[in-house]
Amino acid sequence: MKQRAPLVVANWKLNGGTDLMCASVASFVKKRFKAAIGIAPPYVYISDMVSFLRNSNIMVGSQNVSKFASGAFTGETSAQMLKEVGCGFCLIGHSERRQVFLENDASCHTKIERALAAGLMPILCVGENSQQHELGLTHDILYRQLHQALDGVSLQGQRLCIAYEPVWAIGTGKAASAAQVQEVHEYIRQELGAILGAGVAGQVDILYGGSVKKDNAAELLAMPNVDGLLVGGASLDPDHFAEICAIAN
Ligand code: G3P
Repeated sequence: MKQRAPLVVANWKLNGGTDLMCASVASFVKKRFKAAIGIAPPYVYISDMVSFLRNSNIMVGSQNVSKFASGAFTGETSAQMLKEVGCGFCLIGHSERRQVFLENDASCHTKIERALAAGLMPILCVGENSQQHELGLTHDILYRQLHQALDGVSLQGQRLCIAYEPVWAIGTGKAASAAQVQEVHEYIRQELGAILGAGVAGQVDILYGGSVKKDNAAELLAMPNVDGLLVGGASLDPDHFAEICAIAN
């Protein structure tokens, strides 16, 4: 029996603009979902989004956070700043950040510490690429990503999410099967137990991301260890995203 309502998070990546923001707000402010909903637009839209969604139960978050607190780091945005403008969560270690911007497990660790210290809920993204998947290395990759990012982290009652996003499923239209996701999430839960203790591990939400659509959302969410979804492409259509949220209710 799952303890909480599912969490469904939209990651707009480098997409959208004022039009998408207005269309999403218009679509969402009128609806009440039992599922918890989060939206991570590009940084520049966060403040407006927070104020437009003030009277809703939708959380706004960021797609990244700096590993630095302040100083001469051009182009960076700190966890404290994100908290100040109303973010509730931040994505950390998305595979696109790892691949394109060369982020590593050590920077993920620092970012998690920064996010927690600022009162943001970190959503740590982990997952294997297609070659690793084919070589049967999924558990090894996740072991490294989880341990290096989380060893020594103390949650002290704060919320943490893990998003399992197999790289081969992102933006390909080829989602992992519900059975695959369940097996991997079970492994993640087991490792979280080793890192954080079984009690705390049970409180961590484990989301799945990678070609989630309204057609596969129900099957994925029915899995016992799937606590929510992280949605990319389908979240750029407010009606489609709203349908996924309604399925998660
Ligand atoms: O963070 C969400 C993401 O990487 C999945 O993207 O487009 O496959 O839903 P998409």
